[in-house]
Amino acid sequence: MTTPSLQTRLLAWYHKNKRTLPWRDHPDAYAVWVSEIMLQQTRVETVIPYFERWMRLFPTVHALADASEHEVLNAWEGLGYYSRARNLHRAAKVIVSDYGGELPGSAADLVKLPGVGRYTAGAIASIAFGADEPALDGNLKRVYARLFDVAEAVDSPRGEKLLWEVARGNLPGGRAGDFNQCLMDLGSAICLPKNPRCLLCPVMDLCKARENGTQELRPVRKPKKSVPHHVHAAGVIVRRGKVLLARRPSKGL
Ligand code: ADE
Repeated sequence: MTTPSLQTRLLAWYHKNKRTLPWRDHPDAYAVWVSEIMLQQTRVETVIPYFERWMRLFPTVHALADASEHEVLNAWEGLGYYSRARNLHRAAKVIVSDYGGELPGSAADLVKLPGVGRYTAGAIASIAFGADEPALDGNLKRVYARLFDVAEAVDSPRGEKLLWEVARGNLPGGRAGDFNQCLMDLGSAICLPKNPRCLLCPVMDLCKARENGTQELRPVRKPKKSVPHHVHAAGVIVRRGKVLLARRPSKGL
């Protein structure tokens, strides 16, 4: 399955075309972790100003662990999915209490931290610690599903397992961080969900989906479940020009 020149060509493309992002080439694993949590479900352009502000407000794991929940949620305000901020805060306390304030370097330890799943653990371990770990989010699944023309549904257990194996089997040893980020950039600039720009792709001639003409059909997904509908009542309490606000609970609707 491994094609020797695939990795070399992709890394050369990345070297020339990589986006300049404030957390890239950052010596600090903390910065990589913060960026990866912010980038979950959020676009790069949206994240950049939040990331820069966050690093000024909480420049170290210790600073974050010592901050109040109110300060942390304020800094997150507008990014959405607030459980990410709460988990960052909780994890910072764990890193201080259990790891002396330094992020653990292995994906196996990282994945135990609140808010860190398999993708994020692989991304941090490879980018910040140089570990040979794959990192598969939705974009990378699409890229791999096309490069290797995977017909299994990427959101099925079998498809997931297969893609993680493919990703692990194709990592260039010692360069996994750059390689994972290369595929992120390729996925956002060229291997687009609709109308992939194959003619600009550095590995067009090695792409199995392109060869089979299936690039628009990959990735395959399971049929969607219908969206549940809930009926709720809401009231707005206004008195003397003031609106009553309460913070939502950390779980549930
Ligand atoms: N999306 C998630 N992580 C990323 C990274 N490190 N660079 C660019 N896009 C990303």
